[in-house]
Amino acid sequence: MTATRYKKIERGKPISIMVNGEAIEAFHGESIAAAMLASGRRAFRHTVKGKQARGFFCGMGMCFDCIATVDGVPHVRTCMTEVSPDCVVELE
Ligand code: FES
Repeated sequence: MTATRYKKIERGKPISIMVNGEAIEAFHGESIAAAMLASGRRAFRHTVKGKQARGFFCGMGMCFDCIATVDGVPHVRTCMTEVSPDCVVELE
């Protein structure tokens, strides 16, 4: 049996982003959704009618369950948006 070779994954430079007024750790090159999941957040938004929690679902920009306000821009898909230093995320 041959050993499987895995490419070592290098994380980007650590940075900090603000989510609902709280600083969380993120790494250059990753999405805002990845940083939020890594920090333990599962609810990204709540439905307008029933106020039910919605979170990361498709991870590829199709479901819109991960939308948030990013740097003042509403309805941004966080799974498709790369973190940037000092970006401010407000969950909807
Ligand atoms: S998780 Fe589906 S659009 Fe982001």
